[in-house]
Amino acid sequence: MLHEKHKPFPQDFLWGAASAAYQIEGAWNVDGKGKSNWDQFVRIPGKTFKGTTGDVAVDHYHRYKEDVALMAEMGMKTYRFSIAWTRIFPNGKGEVNQKGIDFYNQLIDELIKYNIEPIVTIYHWDLPQALQEEYGGWESRQIVEDFKNYSITLFQAFGDRVKYWVSLNEQNIFTRLGYQTALHPPGVKDDKLYYQVNHHASLANAAAIKAFRMYVPDGKIGPSFAYSPAYAATAKPEDVLAAENAEELTNHWWMDVYAWGEYPKATWNYLEREGIAPQIEEGDLALLKEGKPDFMGVNYYQTTTYEKNPLDGATLEANFNTTGKKGTMEDSGIPGLYKTVSNDNLERTNWDWNIDPQGLRIGLRRITNRYKLPVLISENGLGEYDQVEADGTIQDDYRIEYLHTHLVAIQDAITDGVAVIGYCVWSFTDLLSWLNGFQKRYGFVYVNQHEEGEHDLRRIKKKSFYWYKEVIESNGEKL
Ligand code: BG6
Repeated sequence: MLHEKHKPFPQDFLWGAASAAYQIEGAWNVDGKGKSNWDQFVRIPGKTFKGTTGDVAVDHYHRYKEDVALMAEMGMKTYRFSIAWTRIFPNGKGEVNQKGIDFYNQLIDELIKYNIEPIVTIYHWDLPQALQEEYGGWESRQIVEDFKNYSITLFQAFGDRVKYWVSLNEQNIFTRLGYQTALHPPGVKDDKLYYQVNHHASLANAAAIKAFRMYVPDGKIGPSFAYSPAYAATAKPEDVLAAENAEELTNHWWMDVYAWGEYPKATWNYLEREGIAPQIEEGDLALLKEGKPDFMGVNYYQTTTYEKNPLDGATLEANFNTTGKKGTMEDSGIPGLYKTVSNDNLERTNWDWNIDPQGLRIGLRRITNRYKLPVLISENGLGEYDQVEADGTIQDDYRIEYLHTHLVAIQDAITDGVAVIGYCVWSFTDLLSWLNGFQKRYGFVYVNQHEEGEHDLRRIKKKSFYWYKEVIESNGEKL
């Protein structure tokens, strides 16, 4: 199915970029903000690249007007950002901190002033530390009520102006890194707990969406899922089965629950046999079915390729490249189910992430066929080293190439019949990468922030800024 003629991007296509509170705001203890799990975690030696923290990040909290003015200059139609739970409820629940509400009101009003549609992410990983300490955060069912109340507070405060909402950002990633590989807080490795935590998060997600219908009846909401479509390494049936296992266990396990309120069968049975299936209580499945999203939010960075993994084969204990030294990422897997292998057909970034624009088209079609939901591409982008030239410019042609090829793939998918409502590039300004410090950059706007040395936080427009401006101006005709 090659197309001579592409369908155009829809007239109301949401061209945008995205960020997350912890990665940009800074002001970590300002205006009554409480401590989050990340404020705590980054202080443990050895957890982040060169000990970077989000204490200052790129100081968006104090510079949001400058940042929004740059968005307006670029002609952005939408901006996706997250709210720090601890600015609204310093202890996760109880008294609202009015100064937190004020900050986001100002940001939202500033965006609206320039006709930029705000997309608010309710949760992008920064859990109130108070809830972690009180009942283990996501480990307890109590989180469902607290998350719902926090969400309702946001719907009431901002729902008059914010019509697009993302519930949880990458539930599959924050739980895996928090409870399987221990790379994120709370730094636990416990498979049974991992699946239980996920069940609670899915319930919280559904409870928030269910409440949303009452508070913002004219709005749209969905989760953002980190979708890495599975490929089989070869046409050997055992490798194809491994890829099927991976697609179900690493993707459908979440997306089926979001879209249908059901856990996929083969994975459920596998987890039961292993004694690690989550405990489900009466009413849980009904709630999951009541929290259906309006769209599937997709964060797409790469595909993953799988082959058969013997029972004594690779485990999840593998090095994850957080240094930017190409070739240091190791394969990992689940014995008996699947193992990742590098795909020689694909180029990789310096952080060993595959570059695969066609994988996005494939993924969008899989989602459309399975769930029949529109898709918001809530993240896609290239993390690379950027260099400020002697003349002060940043020639990030590699980023333009990356975004260009992915947009062509999106237009292919639209032509195939996929309903894509928007595209949020990760990210607008450079920001703090959770584990990779400031040297792994994603933005259209360079921020002079570094792990070490001089850093005055000044903003510099990269070459890609001007390129994306034209893409938006032409509604994708000039890619
Ligand atoms: C997504 C997250 O997983 O990928 C972002 O939603 C994150 O918060 C982005 O920054 C890129 O990941 P990394 O590890 O390169 O910063």
